[in-house]
Amino acid sequence: MLYIIDTAHLEEIRKCVEIYPVAGVTTNPTIISKENTDFGYLVKTIREIIGPDRMLHIQTTSTTADAIVKEAMELQQFVGGDFYIKIPISPEGLKATRKLKKYGVKVTMTAIFTQQQALISALAGADFVAPYVNRLDNIVSDGIHVVNEIVDQFKNYGVKAKVLAASFKNVEQVHKAALAGCHAVTINPDLFEKLIYHPLTYYAIDDFSKDWESVYGDQKILDLIKEK
Ligand code: E4P
Repeated sequence: MLYIIDTAHLEEIRKCVEIYPVAGVTTNPTIISKENTDFGYLVKTIREIIGPDRMLHIQTTSTTADAIVKEAMELQQFVGGDFYIKIPISPEGLKATRKLKKYGVKVTMTAIFTQQQALISALAGADFVAPYVNRLDNIVSDGIHVVNEIVDQFKNYGVKAKVLAASFKNVEQVHKAALAGCHAVTINPDLFEKLIYHPLTYYAIDDFSKDWESVYGDQKILDLIKEK
């Protein structure tokens, strides 16, 4: 499963790519607006930080097929590298997806809340579909159930599109998305930190240090293997 970071915060992206196995960055207009800065500078800098081989998913702000296609093609030129245009599912979005496939632009169909939205997006040519797990959970639906059924449908029908589950708020949701067999998850940096946290790990590390120091004091391994 691929881990993608769902932020446009430059320092957080820098930190995450140094620490975690990050496959790319996703943004949406809300995430971009939070940074409240020059859009061109922001997306170019994200590309510089993550390099050309990691995925960069940027969402269209247009709503008609022709405008989405134009925006996608120009954005692809502008940011370069492994680029995906995110398009919220709609009739115009599907129309744009079909056209963009002909031009070789990769598409992530987003704001997916149902299994049928996902299947139709995939058959229209989307490379990724992004179901929103937490937003479904918040309306007393079941985000993971929807993800599970999308993954199953794609397997059953030999659909090439991949499932990029999005909108996560806790570790349990991410874990269950992984069990569902989705191909990628996009999560914010705080949640990334929580995924590797366990209090017993900290106790264990503390005990290792105490036991070592009880015999070797503040000497490190390198001090002890130096040629005398
Ligand atoms: C990413 O592709 C989605 O836009 C994002 O994960 C939505 O997350 P939210 O529900 O926390 O806004």
